[in-house]
Amino acid sequence: MNAINKLIVEIVKLMPKPIVYIFARKYIAGERLEDAIEVVKELNSNGILATVDVLGESVTTKKEAEDAKKECLAVLDAINVNKLNANLSVKPTQLGLGIDKDFCYEQLSEILEKAKSYSNFVRIDMEDSPFTTLTIELVMRLKQKFNNTGIVVQAYLKRTIQDVLEMNKCGMNYRLCKGIYVEPAEIAYKDRQEVRNNYLKILETMLENGNYVGIATHDEYLIDGAYDIIKKNNYSNDKFEFQMLYGVRENYRDKINADGYKIRVYVPFGNQWYAYSVRRLKENPQVAWYIFKSIFSFN
Ligand code: FDA
Repeated sequence: MNAINKLIVEIVKLMPKPIVYIFARKYIAGERLEDAIEVVKELNSNGILATVDVLGESVTTKKEAEDAKKECLAVLDAINVNKLNANLSVKPTQLGLGIDKDFCYEQLSEILEKAKSYSNFVRIDMEDSPFTTLTIELVMRLKQKFNNTGIVVQAYLKRTIQDVLEMNKCGMNYRLCKGIYVEPAEIAYKDRQEVRNNYLKILETMLENGNYVGIATHDEYLIDGAYDIIKKNNYSNDKFEFQMLYGVRENYRDKINADGYKIRVYVPFGNQWYAYSVRRLKENPQVAWYIFKSIFSFN
């Protein structure tokens, strides 16, 4: 499978951009903010919440990071003007974490200040392992001043349970996901079932401690496992929500919605969709297989 996935990645990279856009389109709202707003309106009309993401990451200049911040501020304005049931997700390296952590903190403070004025929330995504500690420190620092933010943690990282036990002390708002990046075996579980077991163990720890959790997964094993934990402990709806990516497993999304649980969809948009898609493919060739299936409708 790995060789096939790598081959698909190479083929996709050779394809003309307009062709790649045809399948990338399934997973992104479009290039413009208006496209994202339309998608969110549609989701909201079906009782589904959203989190909007301006595509982009790993900027190398402060100018790029400031431009990204302006786009994030525009998203918050648009959510407010259109009265959408949505918040914002941001990648720290898009806002300059790889350049200067104090600069990134200032940028995020400005975004959180604006979000606060709209009673809105900003989720800080988690990127690859060179940024794990920096991101935790950044969010912990922001939490001292802002209530309207939270972090993402990755169940494939062996360190995560310990990080969560530490962050639980300050009443963290979490998104729990498996993790999308390719990490070395010394620091990450590689076995699918091991990642799942760790996911459910971390979820239990978070909920037991009274933290709010965004349960981000499309894996039915984990969705069922989360349902069991929630029912067994009678956790109320204001303690958790489910989260999924735009365009992925909509049947599960709709079932969770019909079951009366909150479900939020991650809606990425922006002109950096190509770089993002190809980088994602290289980071995780498994995604290439999903794309290949979607092109040829093998589902
Ligand atoms: P798994 O990978 O086993 O997927 C289960 C099934 O869902 C697959 O068999 C496939 O059918 C379908 N599927 C999953 N992903 C798909 C995709 N991209 N395209 C098409 N089909 C797909 N990661 C991270 O490192 N940092 C972060 O900040 C975030 N943020 C985030 C937000 C939200 C809302 C979600 C849902 C996910 C993330 N992730 C993330 C990604 C996450 O870590 C993980 O890579 C994916 O969710 C896939 O893992 P699953 O738990 O869905 O299981």
